[in-house]
Amino acid sequence: MSMERLDKILASQNTASRKGAGAMIRRGAVAVNGNVVRKADFKVDTQSDEVTINGEILVIRKFLYLMMNKPAGVLSAARDTRVRTVVDLLPPELKRRGLFPAGRLDKDTEGLLIITDDGGFAHRMLAPKSHVFKVYEAVLARPVDAGDIAAFESGVELSDMTCLPAQLQVLEDGGRPLVRVRIREGKFHQVKRMFLARGNEVQQLKRVQI
Ligand code: URA
Repeated sequence: MSMERLDKILASQNTASRKGAGAMIRRGAVAVNGNVVRKADFKVDTQSDEVTINGEILVIRKFLYLMMNKPAGVLSAARDTRVRTVVDLLPPELKRRGLFPAGRLDKDTEGLLIITDDGGFAHRMLAPKSHVFKVYEAVLARPVDAGDIAAFESGVELSDMTCLPAQLQVLEDGGRPLVRVRIREGKFHQVKRMFLARGNEVQQLKRVQI
């Protein structure tokens, strides 16, 4: 059983501020299991009680997990005073306190980003020992060769580290080579640095899978 104050539940689910929630409750807009409750500190079992607001069922979510297709030009951060962040892009009904991106994409990188308020989940997903695979598609300045594929497989040498084995696959070999890279680390600028170490350059980067 998980008992919580009614006003706290309403505020945590982003239906109102704590004060606004109190007013809503006093107005008689909120019912628990079909009975109007007018006390803000009324205790609710978040697992079994049914809370309604003006007759509509409130789905109580302890944590939120969102998949965003991040556009280029937006910062992977919770808040920033000067630039637009991925959290700023969320529609109002999904915004709530404590949301942050679980892992980062560079400002110019696009693609899959998980946004959550579950710190434990983010920690487990990001811990190096978890080896969660991430797949990227990259447009490169130059074609790759068999030597590049072998180097990715045995671990690319960067100035400060040797990467874990990674897979490099050619998707399109034309004027703008398109490749798929599968890594299980997430060091700063890792994919871009791996190609730089091979004398190539990433021109566009998109994460397609975690
Ligand atoms: N590797 C990079 O270089 N940048 C990203 O945004 C993600 C992985």
